[in-house]
Amino acid sequence: MPRQKIFYFRKDFLWGASISSHQTEGNNYNDWSVWERKNAKRLAKEACQKFGHLDNWYKIEKYACDPQNYISGHAVDFWHKYRDDFNLAKSLGLKALRFSIEWSRIEPEKGKFDEKAIRHYLSMINALRKRGIEPFVTLWHWPLPVWLANEGGWKNVKTINYFCRYVKKICQRLKGKVKFLITINEPEIYAGVSYYQGVWPPQEKNFLSYLWVLNHLIVAHKKAYKIIKKISPKFKVSIAKNNVYFEAKNKRPINRLLKWLSDWWWNSYILNRIKNQLDFIGLNHYFRNLIEGGYNRNENAIVSGLGFELYPQSIYFVLKDLAKYKKPIYITENGLVDSTDYRRGWFIKEVLRNVHRAIHEGIDVRGYLHWSLLDNFEWDKGFWPRFGLIEVDYHTLERRIRPSAYEYTKIINDRAIMRPYKILRPQKTLL
Ligand code: BGC
Repeated sequence: MPRQKIFYFRKDFLWGASISSHQTEGNNYNDWSVWERKNAKRLAKEACQKFGHLDNWYKIEKYACDPQNYISGHAVDFWHKYRDDFNLAKSLGLKALRFSIEWSRIEPEKGKFDEKAIRHYLSMINALRKRGIEPFVTLWHWPLPVWLANEGGWKNVKTINYFCRYVKKICQRLKGKVKFLITINEPEIYAGVSYYQGVWPPQEKNFLSYLWVLNHLIVAHKKAYKIIKKISPKFKVSIAKNNVYFEAKNKRPINRLLKWLSDWWWNSYILNRIKNQLDFIGLNHYFRNLIEGGYNRNENAIVSGLGFELYPQSIYFVLKDLAKYKKPIYITENGLVDSTDYRRGWFIKEVLRNVHRAIHEGIDVRGYLHWSLLDNFEWDKGFWPRFGLIEVDYHTLERRIRPSAYEYTKIINDRAIMRPYKILRPQKTLL
């Protein structure tokens, strides 16, 4: 057994967790909630066919095949329970919390801004501050007000201006209260899944629409950045960028070429275009993609509850690659589906070991926000994939802290992680 050394994270490292409005608040009225009602039956039918291979299927089946699972409804009622949830976050020792403002609540009708909703978000921020928790506020995490979706959503170039108007309205009120702002969550995922894969609303399958929408999102960020900095240069602004570790399995030229292309298009293209409008990099990281003549040749030795490979080393490579931007990095999302909680503690530890390794090699990583604080509504998969440090009973809405969350708390309290960076294996089975 190699001798283990203890290494420490800096004192001001921001330990946290993330959530988003539509996934937690409940009772939103937006393009997603409308889409859910129309598509719930179909989604249930498709999931029944698609996920049968999962080793914990017997536990999931009841939920995955039930159309009700695909309707966000009251979600986890975070809208009303946020104070209790922040108490739980504080009890876990969290120093930062990322949440999003729901555009459809702020501007339910075109040009009409709801003062009550704005004040509600301000009280959330206040409640976080009172508990010594730093808010990371996302201005747009995917759903659109229905009136805007009816006008063509992000395909309509006018949406850039609507977004800027909404951002201005909100940020004038956030001035002096919030430091960290994320304008847009994962533009590449939204554009890709909604306009190229045709899975999320508005379910288009058109490569040109995908590029068109992606471009609008990039321009929207650039313009919003200027507006925000004019309101207050003290805001620290970024997007949340989903980067993947593309690994060429061997030196075959085709693998290396695919890696190079993927790194350029998926990981760098957007950041290159907005690098002058970024005060930090918000990194969302979940996956490795092993390339061997094609994509996703992953070994899948250890998998999440969704059957995806868990490969905690990947974050180290993604962080190293981001060094070229010379900006501070906050990991704004990273996590896994694990309803049994057998692997979450292991995963967090191994990820943090790798984050520390990157820091040790000079990468300026200043925070880690785990996805997610709470179990929540996982978009087209509904409620059954469980991402939370805190388990939620969807009927009683009771919260229960999972054991892995306490493991995270221990790391936070000690600020320490063991080296060398040896990957320890968790139990093989999820059951
Ligand atoms: C999104 C979250 C989502 C998470 C897990 C990220 O791409 O920002 O909204 O729940 O991944 O799939």
